[in-house]
Amino acid sequence: MRYPEEIIEEVRMKNDIVDVVSGYVRLQKKGSSHFGLCPFHNEKSPSFSVSGSKQMFYCFGCGAGGNVFTFVMNYENYTFGEAVKLLADRAGVNLPELEYSEEMKQKENYRARLLEVNKEAAKYFYYQLRAPQGEGGLRYLEGRGLSGETIKKFGLGYSNKTSSDLTKYLKQKGYEDKLLQDAGLASFDERYGMHDKFWNRVMYPIQDINHRVIGFGGRVMGDGTPKYLNSQETQIFDKSRNLYGLNFARTARAGNIILCEGYMDVIALHQAGFTQAVASLGTAFTAGQANLLRRYTENVLLAYDSDGAGVNAALRAIGILKEVDLTGKVIDMSPYKDPDEFIKNLGKEAFQERIDGAENSFLFEIRILEREYDVKDPEEKTKFHKEIARRLCGFTVEVERENYLEAIAEKYNIGFEHLRRLVNTYASQTGLAKPIERPKSGVKQKNTPEENAKRMQRLLLTWLTDEPSLYLKIQKYISPQDFTEDLYRQVAEKLFAGMQGGSYNPADIISMFEDEEQQREVASLFNAKLEAVSTKKEREKAFHDILVAVKKNSLEYASQNLGSDIQAITRVVEGKRALQELEKTHISVD
Ligand code: GTP
Ligand code: MN
Repeated sequence: MRYPEEIIEEVRMKNDIVDVVSGYVRLQKKGSSHFGLCPFHNEKSPSFSVSGSKQMFYCFGCGAGGNVFTFVMNYENYTFGEAVKLLADRAGVNLPELEYSEEMKQKENYRARLLEVNKEAAKYFYYQLRAPQGEGGLRYLEGRGLSGETIKKFGLGYSNKTSSDLTKYLKQKGYEDKLLQDAGLASFDERYGMHDKFWNRVMYPIQDINHRVIGFGGRVMGDGTPKYLNSQETQIFDKSRNLYGLNFARTARAGNIILCEGYMDVIALHQAGFTQAVASLGTAFTAGQANLLRRYTENVLLAYDSDGAGVNAALRAIGILKEVDLTGKVIDMSPYKDPDEFIKNLGKEAFQERIDGAENSFLFEIRILEREYDVKDPEEKTKFHKEIARRLCGFTVEVERENYLEAIAEKYNIGFEHLRRLVNTYASQTGLAKPIERPKSGVKQKNTPEENAKRMQRLLLTWLTDEPSLYLKIQKYISPQDFTEDLYRQVAEKLFAGMQGGSYNPADIISMFEDEEQQREVASLFNAKLEAVSTKKEREKAFHDILVAVKKNSLEYASQNLGSDIQAITRVVEGKRALQELEKTHISVD
């Protein structure tokens, strides 16, 4: 499936990247670029840059980069096609019917029909709640303290006592049996034929981040079982990649996201003003959901039930957050069972206090761990301390480990040095003595000659896109062949051809590459950074050095891979001559 290139380019040109990104990330103008906090990794100082002139973004911290399509794909978790659609809509560009394969077309159509039938069902439930037959449902929700406004905001509804009225209604609207079954709204059996899945329940539509209804949770009104009935996973409902309430929470900007267990908890929290609350969808919290959260926050606060099951679920969630480098904190709900009950009893100010006092997840883990040991018994106590030491070894960054060591030693009244020795013993036993610190971005590493050569090539490409007028001055010395990396050469070919024709466009070049990793790398080619060069003289020297380095590397590379190709030999000879001339030539930069 591909749109014609001209259309893609039109959509891209009509969506200024600075405008688009500003809708998601707060940007500040600095020099010729705009900077903000990178939405693709956690950071405290902005290394995410957006260039209006290049129509590209690039993060100097994590290396995320690309054009406006890449941004939307990464941010919204969209395919290329979906990103094109969103941006075409935004700019009012009419997209032609796609040349889908028949199979793709059908699949896409079917997804659209699933979304449509879910929306119809949501409207139907919503209407039933307000009709005489829905009175019980409305009373139930009101009885749980929900205001009319909250009920409306979450689109809550009611599924009737009659066993197949939704099915009838939807069929009469033209939706076929199979679709209703696939959407999880109806099922079929020999005895009853087609009948509704949800029956006499209050209904919670589950929405994706774009507010589209992708499934339902239905709660029994009272004590029946199962308490909650949820839609099964469908082509549009992936329980491990969506979160209840995220459509609102993503724009809450509270500085944290509160992760709960139940739908009712989310709703109660939103009603109390904590619009940053979300919940998993009747299943355990997953790594996919953790990754989703990471786009919006680095502070996840767990508001899980205070009972045994809730604590275990919280421990598992902490582990999952760790996998994606998020450190969670745990909100203490005692003496109540869950956030809903807490708010009802103690109110929102008290809950805010609990948020402020949320417990570091490591300290939470250790506190729960302590319950397993009888610390009055010396042997048990030693085991407890050893287990603490073992877990402390999990912190590979030394200062972090020391800080935890200190906090734990104080809290559990263990001698600091004693605990540290225990940690060191443990570490050396298990080969953890030399923690590997992850290389921090921006820190200069010792480069291999290959790395250096690549860097020079990147710097040259960046420089030329920044100052395209330079290309005419150097075109006789340099050609795409001088770029020894495959990807770099492809980019140079396209870029130089564009510059010769008087029109070049980095963002357009990115569109040539479909693979996201490649797009990211191409973006890096246009965003290489040269430090500590300021005066014109320094800049001229730097540019000259880069040019010579690229040429030299290219010649070395060519000589090594010469073989018996006459043309290649000629190229090397010519290249040498060009290099000699270049070394003597002064090229002025702006
Ligand atoms: P309320 O009793 O309405 O306050 O429920 P809750 O929101 O406090 O939920 P609870 O803590 O009992 O359960 C947490 C979540 O687990 C619910 O929101 C559901 O998503 C899910 N869940 C609970 N009970 C069931 C069940 O019987 N079946 C299924 N599939 N999921 C359930
Ligand atoms: Mn509850």
